[in-house]
Amino acid sequence: MTEPTASSALVGVGVGPGDPELLTLRAVRVLQRADRVLAPSSAVDAVGRAETIVRQACPGVRIERLVFAMGDATSSIDGAAATVVAGLDAGERLAFVTLGDPNVYSTFASVAARVHQLRPSAAIETVPGIMAFQELAARSGTVVLQHTERLALVTALDGPGALDAALDDPTQAVVIYKGGRHLPAVAKRLAAAGRLDGAVVGELLGLPGKRIALVGDAAGSPAAYLATVIVPPGARRR
Ligand SMILES: C[S@@+](CC[C@H](N)C(=O)[O-])C[C@H]1O[C@@H](n2cnc3c(N)ncnc32)[C@H](O)[C@@H]1O
Repeated sequence: MTEPTASSALVGVGVGPGDPELLTLRAVRVLQRADRVLAPSSAVDAVGRAETIVRQACPGVRIERLVFAMGDATSSIDGAAATVVAGLDAGERLAFVTLGDPNVYSTFASVAARVHQLRPSAAIETVPGIMAFQELAARSGTVVLQHTERLALVTALDGPGALDAALDDPTQAVVIYKGGRHLPAVAKRLAAAGRLDGAVVGELLGLPGKRIALVGDAAGSPAAYLATVIVPPGARRR
């Protein structure tokens, strides 16, 4: 495996969950050297989370917004891919910044797939980013895995149903993404499975309004979309 060196390329750059100190040195170097840095945003005049992080970590870097309108995913992705393809055709290196890691639940993968359809020979690379659950583990003092324990990463956008299979195995840690809205129901499900003890939630990690709490203490009301839960393996005692 050789180090990516293509001059014209699309690079998905993970910028971590929120704290600019969690941008890697590689991410900073790629952002500083890119011809253009693109950031997803909900509107042309809205500063997205990833842009906010880059502004703090790399103050001299100019950022262009790509609008991803709510409920219009396909045309937003097509629009972003068209911008990228125009840049690639002009020989540019384009960095697309994304929260956390670009290879985990990121819009970057959809944009990259569309770009690949349009320009199959284009170089597409990624720079890994620190994920929200790693920051939550560090900030809450939670050991996620030990020895032969396993990890399930699940989403709970539509409710806690997706948790059931993951909770079946007491030696498995469970990380829950996209479940902030359903935090009260998630807490009930964890309690029913005997897994509420030690479960922690981190909301808006590294961002204004950040909160870290035991799920049992925070489950009286929904949390933000940017909330992550860690359920440590139940069979282990710390
Ligand atoms: C679309 S996914 C993005 C995941 C991201 N690519 C990663 O690697 O962490 C969004 C989910 O990531 C989690 N997340 C991302 N940033 C977060 C933050 N600052 N605080 C808490 N959770 C966060 C939340 O569970 C949120 O619902």
